[in-house]
Amino acid sequence: MKKEILDKIEIKQGDITILNVDAIVNAANRSLLGGGGVDGAIHRAAGPKLLEECRTLGGCDTGEAKITKGYNLIASYVIHTVGPVYSGKPQDSELLSQCYINSLQLALENNLNSIAFPAISCGVYGYPIIEACKIAIDTTCSFLDSRTNSLIKVIFILFSSKDFDVYKQYLNKISKR
Ligand code: AR6
Repeated sequence: MKKEILDKIEIKQGDITILNVDAIVNAANRSLLGGGGVDGAIHRAAGPKLLEECRTLGGCDTGEAKITKGYNLIASYVIHTVGPVYSGKPQDSELLSQCYINSLQLALENNLNSIAFPAISCGVYGYPIIEACKIAIDTTCSFLDSRTNSLIKVIFILFSSKDFDVYKQYLNKISKR
């Protein structure tokens, strides 16, 4: 993997709601009206105006993404995407990959420089972290590679140290390719 692509990627452990980036990505559901996990944490930190704006969006299909303001967050924007519920079928990986592509595309269209992703689908939706990590990183690398002047920083932020280690190991592996 090219060094200039890998240099744009950063892995962190912690809470996405306190990151100082242009946009944080929310692992939402199709209603876009809030929920548990990272979705609940983002809505709590952003305040009630986020839900008000989400109500105007008419939901979001699996694999698609929609953008709102960040309200009380440090991040200026929230990009809401809906990951697949893990079923073990081939379309899971395609839909999860689309979440990353469509979120990155929205960041690009809004001239954003930095974006942070949680591990979409890896909580309630049950996606195995090792498979999801490969999809997240491979999709992001090929997106950045095909649009060389886009985005300065892509952060993957993992809540648990176990998930953080999975990402770190995979990034180490592809950096030697
Ligand atoms: N910062 C970073 N990552 C977090 C945080 C946080 N504050 N909180 C949780 N995670 P999940 P899903 C991690 O379940 O699987 C919601 O109810 C968590 O450890 O939030 O895509 C929605 O409304 C896990 O690794 O999202 C949907 O109904 C990852 O975020 C449904 O859950 C994703 O876990 C979506 O399920």
